[in-house]
Amino acid sequence: MVQRASPDHPLVQALARAGFIAAEDEAAELLAAAHGDETRLHAMLQRRLTGEPLAWITGHARFCGIDVTVDPGVYVPRWHSEQLALRAAARLPENGVAVDVCTGSGAVAAVLSARRPRARVVGSDLDERAVTCARRNRVEAYRGDLFDPLPAELRGRVDVVTGVVPYVPTAELPLLQRDTFSFETPLAYDGGDDGTAVLRRVLAEAPAWLRPGGAVVLELGGRQPALLAEELARLGYAPATVLVDEEGDVRGIEAVHEVRLASDA
Ligand SMILES: C[S@@+](CC[C@H](N)C(=O)[O-])C[C@H]1O[C@@H](n2cnc3c(N)ncnc32)[C@H](O)[C@@H]1O
Repeated sequence: MVQRASPDHPLVQALARAGFIAAEDEAAELLAAAHGDETRLHAMLQRRLTGEPLAWITGHARFCGIDVTVDPGVYVPRWHSEQLALRAAARLPENGVAVDVCTGSGAVAAVLSARRPRARVVGSDLDERAVTCARRNRVEAYRGDLFDPLPAELRGRVDVVTGVVPYVPTAELPLLQRDTFSFETPLAYDGGDDGTAVLRRVLAEAPAWLRPGGAVVLELGGRQPALLAEELARLGYAPATVLVDEEGDVRGIEAVHEVRLASDA
């Protein structure tokens, strides 16, 4: 854990003047990443002042207490996904199998591996930069659409499928934070008309990979659990548990797949 920088440090003041609310924490991270090199520190500050994500500048982020490498261009793991990763880890047996679709930097998968070192944890992502980054985080990552690139021998054997998939309704993309909208790719966020397009595909494809009684743990928000309830029942899932954060905001669903349908085989 990096110590906070003092409020009168010039770096803190420059960040605070530019409106960064966590200026002391950010300054401390930049100082640690610059390793005493003033030229490098100056260049890093200039990048941050443009709104570029801090993790792309320092090269890493903390997630569930572990250090995750985050390469420029790759989605920065968020604190609100931590609950999902921990819930999924609790579902994963010691020697179990987990799939993390839309793995990005591999943050969720890395947490699962850290908590269950003997389990097999695989991830997928459409973006080559993400796959490279996830591999740097020691995730067995494959490039491709959702389940398509995963090893076929895992079909029917997966204990838990996790996914922080794109789930922002297309019309709401311009409402995302400045850093997000200017720097990160819509591929990480755009979930179609009501935000559930990719969620629905994951729910439909997961049963072929899950063992009976396996579960999906998916990030979503707002009214999306209600939008998906009928689909969950139709696909053979038990009613989902809705995950909320400490402020009562909806953050995800956890749903066990109970019924093996003929079409899953
Ligand atoms: C919101 S980010 C989440 C990344 C990571 N799970 C995390 O929490 O830090 C979504 C990721 O999904 C990837 N993605 C979007 N559509 C995809 C698809 N159809 N198949 C695989 N990956 C996809 C994006 O490239 C992006 O890395």
